Amino acid sequence: MKKISYISFFTATSIYLFAQTNTLQDSIKRGKVVYNKVCLSCHMADGSGVPKMNPPLTVAEYMNDKKKMISIVLKGMNDRIPIDDEYYSNAMAPHADLSNQQIADVLTYVRNSFGNKAGAVSVAEVAAVRTPAKPAAKSVSNNTINKKQ
Ligand code: HEC
Repeated sequence: MKKISYISFFTATSIYLFAQTNTLQDSIKRGKVVYNKVCLSCHMADGSGVPKMNPPLTVAEYMNDKKKMISIVLKGMNDRIPIDDEYYSNAMAPHADLSNQQIADVLTYVRNSFGNKAGAVSVAEVAAVRTPAKPAAKSVSNNTINKKQ
């Protein structure tokens, strides 16, 4: 009996410790791997981008808006609008093939690198942008169907 309670104590402890290691630093570490593979070629290793082609990843307007950042990664960006008074000729392709975890990690990395200091992006926040909650379907009442024209 004593043995069983020891075992369950250790199981509970290791689950707790495992959850504890999933911290901001881990997300940043995983995000860097995604960044280097997917984003670096355009936005450069230091996030400074390429003048007139790819914007730097330090623009406050975007860094302050998690939803916008998530949406840009999921849907790409080809707006031809000035970003901090500069136009960028390249187009960013959508990266919807990345998992919600990968997008959360890569944006958490970006938001905590290149001089940025902003909050982490969670998997749930990415999921909410990828699949917005649908408004409840309107029920079609007989009244509407039989309404005389
Ligand atoms: C093919 C090159 C390319 C790749 C790869 C790319 N981007 Fe972009 N990104 C761009 C361009 C070009 C724009 C601006 C588009 C415009 O002006 O319409 C942009 C805009 C952005 C913006 C908004 C503006 C800003 O600077 O804050 C963010 C955030 C961003 N990209 C993040 C990422 C992340 C994260 C990845 C990797 C998952 C990535 N991009 C991969 C080219 C790229």
